[in-house]
Amino acid sequence: MMKRLLKHWTKVFVRRGWYCYDFLGADHRTSWVLRYLAGGFLTDWVSVYEQAVARAIGLPHAITFGAGRMAFYAALEALGVGPGDEVIVPGYTCVVVPNAILYRGATPRYVDICRETFNMDPRQLEQAITPRTKVIVAQHTFGRPCEIDAITEIARRHRLVVIEDCAHAVGGSFRGQRLGTFGDVAFVSTDQSKVFSTSLGGAVCCASPPLAEKLRTIQQRSAQLPWWCRVRITFQYGLLALLTRPSLYWASQPFIQLLQRLKVFFWFRDELHTQRPPYYPARLSNVQAFIGWHVIQALQSNVRHRQAVARRYAEILHGAGSVRDDGVWARYSLLVPSPQRWERALEKYFVVGRWFSSVSHGRADDWAAIHYTSGQCPIAEFVAEHIVNFPTHGRIDERALRRFHMWVERLGFTAERLSEARRG
Ligand SMILES: Cc1ncc(COP(=O)(O)O)c(C=O)c1O
Repeated sequence: MMKRLLKHWTKVFVRRGWYCYDFLGADHRTSWVLRYLAGGFLTDWVSVYEQAVARAIGLPHAITFGAGRMAFYAALEALGVGPGDEVIVPGYTCVVVPNAILYRGATPRYVDICRETFNMDPRQLEQAITPRTKVIVAQHTFGRPCEIDAITEIARRHRLVVIEDCAHAVGGSFRGQRLGTFGDVAFVSTDQSKVFSTSLGGAVCCASPPLAEKLRTIQQRSAQLPWWCRVRITFQYGLLALLTRPSLYWASQPFIQLLQRLKVFFWFRDELHTQRPPYYPARLSNVQAFIGWHVIQALQSNVRHRQAVARRYAEILHGAGSVRDDGVWARYSLLVPSPQRWERALEKYFVVGRWFSSVSHGRADDWAAIHYTSGQCPIAEFVAEHIVNFPTHGRIDERALRRFHMWVERLGFTAERLSEARRG
């Protein structure tokens, strides 16, 4: 009896599991905290971090905000987008993107995506342009480069501005040129689900000095979040870094769920707001910029790791989800017949995470509120129903991938079944 019990507990304690999020970044040090407390807080980390973001994207100016959505909103404001204007977005995006357009009094217009890349289909773009169109948002979904050359060519012909949504794609490139440098403006997100994290956060980058000046004015006019929100954002970064360790998965999964239910963590909960929230746009705090500066130093190795993990997933999954080396692979995503079945089968050891399971991630229904009509982007709707996402962050090692391989075999997902799902 004793022996059986012991065996059971050993099994429980050595059980490892992987979350979608890697809060640590590649080279987290606990000494950061001490360094910050021992005088680091006196440095203006926001400007130091902004220079690092600008270098990482490959543009001269970066201006930070409290979230990617706020950076996008600031870009729209600086470009003079307002009532009566239309902004073209992919039919498969995060709801905060159309929300920011609505907050400017403008209207989002949707263009369907390609099934292979999950990105806007440039062949359908021209039909969506009207005399009121002012901006095209070119999103690099899941870090896979969109056909940005075709999109910018159409935009130049129609004299439209291109904003690159690099929320998932910092550190990626397309035909040797860095993502973010093709359009007129680029914005990034650094929340916990992205390539690197400042807990929450975002930045907008551009080459034009007058535009940068306008963005700086918007930033300076914006307020910091209240101190208790900033404390929660910092606290949750540390706490989740600890709790999402694979070795603690067995204990921390229910604990994290409880903390979420008790609203201990701070997220912006404005996904369903079609009116601009009062704190919007907010600034990035000094301590978040301090974290950001440290994690961005490891961006290149972070991206190389994600690319290597994506190649392994592709091998395990019989080539499903074509891998291009210039992608960032914020997640490894593919279409399967029943995402719910994958989730249920893997949940003991792996958080698959229902990410982008709606055409407007964060809003499951009432799409009319964001000017989307059901059936308007049929491929995006199909993709949203069949997508699964696997993590690629720094904690996904060979051991995690071997486990994953074993589960996939147990699930019986053969090459034929996977390609069947892709054909739809
Ligand atoms: C494609 C895309 N764009 C923009 C954003 C907005 O970023 P944030 O959550 O930092 O506001 C997200 C967030 O997930 C996103 O997925």
